[in-house]
Amino acid sequence: MRPFDGRRVLLVVSGGIAAYKSVILLRALRAAGAEVEVLMTSAAERFVGPVTFEALSGRPVHTDLWTNPLAHIELGRKCDLAIVAPATADLLSAMAHGRADDLASATLLAAGCPVLACPAMNVRMWENPATCRNIALLTGDGIRLVGPAHGELAEGETGIGRMAEPEEIMVEAGRVLETDSVLTGRKVVVTAGPTREAIDPVRFIGNRSSGRMGFELAASAWRRGAEVVCIHGPVSVPPPHGPRTVEVEDAVSMLNALRDELEGTSVLCMAAAVSDFQVEQPSDEKIKKDELRGGSLALELASGPDLLLETAEQRAAAGVFTLGFALETTDGVSNATAKLERKSMNLVALNQAGAQDAGFEVETNRITLIDPSGAVEELPLLSKREVADRLLDRIEDRLRDGD
Ligand SMILES: Cc1cc2nc3c(=O)[nH]c(=O)nc-3n(C[C@H](O)[C@H](O)[C@H](O)COP(=O)(O)O)c2cc1C
Repeated sequence: MRPFDGRRVLLVVSGGIAAYKSVILLRALRAAGAEVEVLMTSAAERFVGPVTFEALSGRPVHTDLWTNPLAHIELGRKCDLAIVAPATADLLSAMAHGRADDLASATLLAAGCPVLACPAMNVRMWENPATCRNIALLTGDGIRLVGPAHGELAEGETGIGRMAEPEEIMVEAGRVLETDSVLTGRKVVVTAGPTREAIDPVRFIGNRSSGRMGFELAASAWRRGAEVVCIHGPVSVPPPHGPRTVEVEDAVSMLNALRDELEGTSVLCMAAAVSDFQVEQPSDEKIKKDELRGGSLALELASGPDLLLETAEQRAAAGVFTLGFALETTDGVSNATAKLERKSMNLVALNQAGAQDAGFEVETNRITLIDPSGAVEELPLLSKREVADRLLDRIEDRLRDGD
């Protein structure tokens, strides 16, 4: 997975309870295609055995300064990124003060690559002025931090100190490893999930969109260094780490949020399944069963706002590159091509309704890409994460070509 494919990551594990989460992080890094060298402090070895990291990284784990006299210089030199997870108060202090009395601190002192530190400790250790001073020194030196998060801590306390989740660390690591994306520093807006159109205060018209496709697009853009805003309806999957999120309920509120965000936007990805209809007159009160005369209730529907048509002028004026999705049952390519022109899109991703393993509520998608020149590209069945990466690759190509 871009940008991890073939990249070399040094994972430094120090001695905290959260060391078990680094096993999951290692798996994620490997699954994304990174080559990972693991270095453990001697305290870390008391929490998780090196053999676990050895088996999952497929390489010997580095633990001792004296075993290979050059390890502390070589490890940092040949890696593209060092991730310290968990980063104990002790190791952060050593790093802040340039200590080099064990393999971890000496390697980090000698490393020329970017360093991402993921602190994990008790809330009072984290809030202690000594740790605060160390963190200020480290961030001043260009060390990037992920977390710590607020939540339940190992000793039964609650507060700030939990190590960031592996998924969040992956996202930030991707952002550091990304070096040549044209999206870096640009604003990308993604719409995701369904909308809900009220029937009465408790009932609504909705659809089966989970939000997954839009969230993968937002995460992929974030990994490429973009400033991402994700406008989403009521979703059934957690939003990605990193992007700013704007939660909305219905099509009108999604349109308003989109209008507010278009200023300064370079790329817009319209992955939300916005309702085509809204109830003409939603009831202010819960509709009671005995109001159903003869056992039926007629709902008068009106068409909802078309977000692409409504924003066409604003998008053209701001020069926004727009990716849209089209779900078609018949004549997919010709209908999607017509939509592309009528709704001023730069690229359209066509979903064939009823295609197996594709569309709503599944983790995979099969799409056909159509651009204004009439070029049609069929992508194979891929995970939504891979689809998102391919779509953003195409968008990057087009932006490089001056679109
Ligand atoms: C059970 C236990 C849990 C610990 N958890 C943490 C922790 O989460 N964060 C931390 O900074 N230190 C923690 N410590 C203290 C460190 O293990 C200790 O400071 C150690 O010297 C760190 O060594 P290292 O930084 O070389 O890995 C813990 C200690 C024990 C005994």
